Amino acid sequence: MRALVTGGAGYIGSVSVEILLAAGHDVVVLDDLSTGHRAAVPAGAQLVDGSYADQERVARLLTDERIDAILHCGARSLVGESMSDPARYYRANIVGGVALLEAARTVGVQRLVFSSSAAVYGTPDASPIDESAGLRPINPYGETKRTFESALAWYGSAYGLRSVSLRYFNAAGATEANGEDHDPETHLIPNVLRAAQRGTEVALFGDDYPTPDGTCIRDYVHVEDLAAAHLLALEATADELPDGLPGGDDSGATAAAHPNSLVCNLGSGTGFSVRHVVDAAVGIVGHPIAIRIGPRRAGDPPILVATAGRAETLLGWDPRHGSLEGMIGSAWEWRQRHPAGYAR
Ligand SMILES: NC(=O)c1ccc[n+]([C@@H]2O[C@H](COP(=O)([O-])OP(=O)(O)OC[C@H]3O[C@@H](n4cnc5c(N)ncnc54)[C@H](O)[C@@H]3O)[C@@H](O)[C@H]2O)c1
Repeated sequence: MRALVTGGAGYIGSVSVEILLAAGHDVVVLDDLSTGHRAAVPAGAQLVDGSYADQERVARLLTDERIDAILHCGARSLVGESMSDPARYYRANIVGGVALLEAARTVGVQRLVFSSSAAVYGTPDASPIDESAGLRPINPYGETKRTFESALAWYGSAYGLRSVSLRYFNAAGATEANGEDHDPETHLIPNVLRAAQRGTEVALFGDDYPTPDGTCIRDYVHVEDLAAAHLLALEATADELPDGLPGGDDSGATAAAHPNSLVCNLGSGTGFSVRHVVDAAVGIVGHPIAIRIGPRRAGDPPILVATAGRAETLLGWDPRHGSLEGMIGSAWEWRQRHPAGYAR
């Protein structure tokens, strides 16, 4: 397979490229390097510096590079920024995303895997969350993910696009080559490890949630396991997709109407509290990490844990790096090799 990976210079995209190359596929990365890093693109992949929103250029690229399938990881993905500047999210994730779909449609690329998010669920009524839960995003970021999922469903039924939307919960960990390096960083594990490395404080947002230790509970999946799911999903789009509900019950997309689009959670079914993550990190780095308890962040649900049975059953996903210590340990090793991130 020849795959185009948008956002392949980013955290999840670069590790997905590693896994695709290791499986013998050819990869072209399309990344505007807005939050990604040239150095994150694995050596065996070709990097094209540009935007997936540039429909004409993408159409030419798909044709010239004889692309079979697209992995669409590129996006704006900061929840807070989406609240203060929703226009940026609609432009990048919806207008840009549809330009990518149009480029694919005009040149006949019929396979796409999409980086979706647990943010499509908003604050869930029940835990763990399965894919039939209602879709009620509480920020523009989640709303744009939900809208793009719906676009994929309608493109599937009208134009035959075969798509898989993968709803990630929390990506964590690193490979030997690639790890998490965002600025600003909003994710807990890299922030805790950065504080450990620099001897600074890490802020924890709220310790009065209705959870056993008062801090939020999240579901972490090793980035290499996420990448493995992308490979399986891309391979699955080669044929008719397995039956499965494409979206939540109020997503506007039903299995009967949209047979070519599949939606799967990528979670572990297990959650860890913020305090538990910090305690595990202390065990790994071998010294105390200073914490400061701040106020709750708007829009943080107390518990976000997924069921992952559908990805396992329908895609054959078999996550192998489930231990929290293993995820934090790999992230710590990467950070020690790259103390300034990709800036070196
Ligand atoms: N990291 C997580 O825990 C998490 C959770 C849920 C969903 N996601 C989704 O997964 C995807 C990847 O997340 P990540 O953490 O790797 O983010 P990231 O910021 O590290 O990677 C995104 C990449 O997309 C590129 N990009 C942005 N706009 C682009 C454009 N218009 N054209 C080309 N490239 C563009 C950036 O330069 C970057 O390399 C995103 O779609 C994100 O919404 C991530």
